[in-house]
Amino acid sequence: MTDLEEAAATVRGHLPTIPRLALVLGSGLGVFAESLSGRKEIPYTELPHWPRSTAVGHAGKLILGRLGELDLLCLSGRAHLYEGYTAREAAFAIRVLGLLGVRSLVLTNAAGGINPAFEQGELVLISDHINLQGVNPLVGVNDDELGPRFPDMSEAYCERYRHITKLVAAEMQITMAEGVYAGLLGPSYETPAEIRYLRAIGADLVGMSTVPEVIAANHMGMKVLAISCVTNMAAGILPRGIDHEEVLETGAKVRDTLVRLLKEVLPRLES
Ligand code: HPA
Repeated sequence: MTDLEEAAATVRGHLPTIPRLALVLGSGLGVFAESLSGRKEIPYTELPHWPRSTAVGHAGKLILGRLGELDLLCLSGRAHLYEGYTAREAAFAIRVLGLLGVRSLVLTNAAGGINPAFEQGELVLISDHINLQGVNPLVGVNDDELGPRFPDMSEAYCERYRHITKLVAAEMQITMAEGVYAGLLGPSYETPAEIRYLRAIGADLVGMSTVPEVIAANHMGMKVLAISCVTNMAAGILPRGIDHEEVLETGAKVRDTLVRLLKEVLPRLES
């Protein structure tokens, strides 16, 4: 058995059902899972080969629960490259979900706003990404059982899911822009020169997660929806520095809106 299969078998042993939809909760969003009914939780420490999350605001557990009629799996806590994990490790949980039969993946994250039209505290749909992390979870021998050697990434973020999310947001009078996410390694925030560069190459958002997960999900043929919370304007956009506390505080303020939105959007994402 591979490491992935071993982890998948352990998850199966703990959970009565495996939903087709899974959600990755970014920093401070663990509360979403607390509102699910009939919860079953597995701490990552009980799952073999599973990377532990060390980042503040990341709980580190896999949660099965129900949202109304909908069963879903939540990953509360993710492995970031800046914690020292390899890209394969950062994508490990997503691959296990894929092996378990998850077909639709919703990711949330905190990001810096590069596009000056964005505002701190806004939710932005990710339409595409630019991988500047210098690594890719698919490097190495390809497991043809998981997916192709050279996967297509031309619609990495499902167009239909984005359309549904925009409609729901409009119905709920939630402002929802769309933008390209530049994934960087971190953990230092960017310099103003780096942000000017990112703007010039077409990025609207910048962050330190999501890209390895989205690549692994696409490799396995999952459909992806990703939403960034603009926790701060990126370096040099405003005449002040970036403070991690402020990033966390903004995340906490937008959390309720994001949770409200997800509760309406998730049941409409049939796979
Ligand atoms: N840059 C990179 N990652 C981030 C930022 C940022 O400004 N804000 C939240 N995550």
